[in-house]
Amino acid sequence: MEAMTLLLDRQSHGRLEEPAPSTEQMDVIYRAALRAPDHGELRPWRFIEYSGEGRSTLGTMFAGAEREDNPEVSDKTLEKARSKPLRAPVVIAVIAAVRVNHKVPRIEQVISAGCAAHAMLYAAHAQGLGAMWRTGDLARHQHVRQAMGLEQDDELVGFLYLGHCATGDRTLKSLDPGDFVERIKA
Ligand SMILES: Cc1cc2nc3c(=O)[nH]c(=O)nc-3n(C[C@H](O)[C@H](O)[C@H](O)COP(=O)(O)O)c2cc1C
Repeated sequence: MEAMTLLLDRQSHGRLEEPAPSTEQMDVIYRAALRAPDHGELRPWRFIEYSGEGRSTLGTMFAGAEREDNPEVSDKTLEKARSKPLRAPVVIAVIAAVRVNHKVPRIEQVISAGCAAHAMLYAAHAQGLGAMWRTGDLARHQHVRQAMGLEQDDELVGFLYLGHCATGDRTLKSLDPGDFVERIKA
């Protein structure tokens, strides 16, 4: 895919289906992540990949978080939480592994992990795959953070859902750069 087409036309796909991306495709996706801008070469990135039956590990964490919030939670809510990771063949948790008390501020390390996630979306799109970045309350939930082994200062920047597109592309809204850019020329 031509680079400018990728940059201007990337879009998310919420409905994803099998097959899972191949090992080679996943390798490209991770290599793209590792090219994220990185102040101080801290490599403040950590990825946990859930696929196949492994997705139930994540679903169990989500359901555990719901139960922690409300011990009386309904079976329906628990089942919904459990099935969230099944919305795609592969789900990757993208984590900013933040080094505290470092001259590179926390926000720059978290942004770097966000850039890594964005690069992964592009690498998926460029390979004809579908992808969607999701967070929600569960991404910030202490139960989920603990189960994933996050350190106190780590940030779970999101879950990338990856697979093959179950639907076609949608028509993108055309935004005008002029609405967002202030030009100072003199
Ligand atoms: C940090 C972050 C978290 C997001 N979390 C969610 C989410 O939990 N649920 C959701 O529907 N979209 C979420 N989105 C938005 C989608 O990933 C997507 O960007 C949006 O639907 C617009 O589609 P597009 O990427 O094709 O423009 C999130 C985006 C970002 C950057």
